[in-house]
Amino acid sequence: MQTPPTSPSPSLEEVKHAVQAAREEAAAYSGRAQEAWRSMSSLIAPSRESVPIGVLEGEVLDISGLSASVSGMRDFTGIGDRVVIKALDGRDIMAEVVAFKQHCAIVMPYGSMEGIGAGCKVSFSLYDRQQRQKLSGGVLQVNASWVGRVIDPTGRPIDGKGSLLPGGEVQKLHASPPEAATRARLGPRIDLGVKAMNLFTTCREGQRLGLFAGSGVGKSTLLGMLVRSTECDVAVISLVGERGREVREFIEDDLGPDGMAKSVVVVATSDTSALMRREAAYSALAAAEYFRDQGKSVLLLMDSVTRFCQALREIGLSAGEPPATRGYPPSVFSTLPRLLERAGPGPLQKNGQAGQITAVFSVLVEGDDQNEPVADAVRGILDGHIVMARDIAEAGRYPAIDVLKSLSRSVPGCLSSDENALVQKARRILATWGDVKDLVRLGAYKQGADPSADEAVQLGPAIEQLITQRKGETMGLEDCFQALKHVLETGESGEVVPQAS
Ligand SMILES: Nc1ncnc2c1ncn2[C@@H]1O[C@H](COP(=O)(O)OP(=O)(O)O)[C@@H](O)[C@H]1O
Ligand SMILES: [Mg+2]
Repeated sequence: MQTPPTSPSPSLEEVKHAVQAAREEAAAYSGRAQEAWRSMSSLIAPSRESVPIGVLEGEVLDISGLSASVSGMRDFTGIGDRVVIKALDGRDIMAEVVAFKQHCAIVMPYGSMEGIGAGCKVSFSLYDRQQRQKLSGGVLQVNASWVGRVIDPTGRPIDGKGSLLPGGEVQKLHASPPEAATRARLGPRIDLGVKAMNLFTTCREGQRLGLFAGSGVGKSTLLGMLVRSTECDVAVISLVGERGREVREFIEDDLGPDGMAKSVVVVATSDTSALMRREAAYSALAAAEYFRDQGKSVLLLMDSVTRFCQALREIGLSAGEPPATRGYPPSVFSTLPRLLERAGPGPLQKNGQAGQITAVFSVLVEGDDQNEPVADAVRGILDGHIVMARDIAEAGRYPAIDVLKSLSRSVPGCLSSDENALVQKARRILATWGDVKDLVRLGAYKQGADPSADEAVQLGPAIEQLITQRKGETMGLEDCFQALKHVLETGESGEVVPQAS
C-alpha cells in the first residue's frame, strides 16, 4: 500500500492524496472481501434449519434378501425416509424405508448388506414438519461449478478431480413435476446436430423423446453426438446400471473433452444397489431442474430407463409387492410417469421466460419385442420416439436410426410447409425404397414399370447416404433441409455448400 516518494520530500498535499487513495483502496478491498464471504457462506454454510430436532433409535430385528426389519420406527417414519444403520464394523450405512409390516419398518440399504446383523442400531433424524417436507427422500445441493464433473447419485465426485462445492439451495431428489397449468409451452425448435433427427424427428426445446434400441446398436455413440452438437447451455447425463468399463468409454470416447466440458454426468454402475441405480435417475433430474430454474436450456440424457425400471422392480419385490407384468410390480408403472414428466418445459417465471429440459431417455429393446412393458409404457408417455435398428447398424449405416419408425409429435408445429413437403417426400421415397431394395439387389427390378419405384431406386440410396453421419460430424438444422432439398432435386448426396435462403 506504500507509495514510493515521487520526490525526495513530498509536499503535504501529495501525502494527503496518497493517504486518501490508500484508504479508498482498502475500503474497496474490504467491500469485495465481504461480498465474497457472503456469497461463499451462502454456498457452503448448512442452513440453520437442517439441524434435526431429535434422533429416533431402533434396532434391526431380522434380515431377508435385500431388506431388513427395524423396530422402533413405525410411528415416526414414512415410505422413502432415510435411516442410518450402524453396521457391526462401525460403518454408518444409509438405508431407506420401503414398506411396513406389523410393528416394523422394512428398510433397504443404499450399499451392500454386508456387516449388517440382527441387533444393529438404527437411527432416524427427526425434523419439524416444514423441514421434513423440504428434506425427506434426500436432496442434492447442486452448484453451477459441477459442470464438467462426474458424480455418484449422492452428489459425491467420482472423477478424481477433487471435491465439489455444494450449492446453497437444496434440490429435492423426488420432486414433483411442475404444475401443468403453470408450465411453459414447448420452446422453439432445437438444433440437434444429427442429420437423421434434425430432418425426420425435428424437436422443440423441452420435448421428451424415447430412444429405443438393442445393445450394441450405437446408443452411447448417438447420445455422445447429441451432447456435443445440440444447441444447449448444459447437458445432464444419467448412466444407470452400465458396466464400469462402459462408463469410462462413454466419457472418454463418446463424450470426449468437448462434450464433457458442458456436462454433469451422474453414474451408478451395475454393481451398485438397486436404490443407488434408482437414485442416479432422480439425481440427474434434480440437477437438470436446478439449471432449468436458472432459465437455462438443459439437455437431459438417460441411459437407460429400462435399468431404472429394473431397479424399481428389485425394490418393489423386496418391499413385498407382487410381480405383475413380466415380473415388474405395479408401482413401477406409476413411478415411471412421475420421473419422465419432470423433464420438459419449466414453470413460467416472472419475466415470462422459462428454462427447458429437452430429454432423451433410452429404452433397451431386443428384437421386435412389442410386449416389452417398459418400452410400451415409455412410448405412451413421451412426445416422440427414435427407433434404432440392428439391421441398419449391420449394414454399416450409422447412426442406425430407422427414420420410418421414428416420430416426433411436435413436428406439425415446427416445420414450414416447404420443409414439411420435403420430409414427407423423403419418407415416401424411403418407404418405397425399402420395398424394392431386395429386388434391386437380386437384379430382378425392372425399370419403367412404376414411376414411384423408379424414383425410389434413384433417390433412396442418396437419402440414406445423406443421413449417414460420422461420430465427429455435425450439421445445423437449416443446412440439413438445404441438403435434403439438394438430394431430392439432383439425386446427389455429396457435400452441399449451405446457401443463404
Ligand atoms: N456414428 C457411428 N459411426 C461409426 N460407428 C458407429 C457409430 N455409432 C456406433 N458405431 C459402432 O457401433 C458400436 C457400438 O456402439 P455403442 O454406442 O457402444 O452401442 P450401445 O451403446 O448401443 O451398446 C461402436 O463400437 C461403433 O463401432
Ligand atoms: Mg452403450
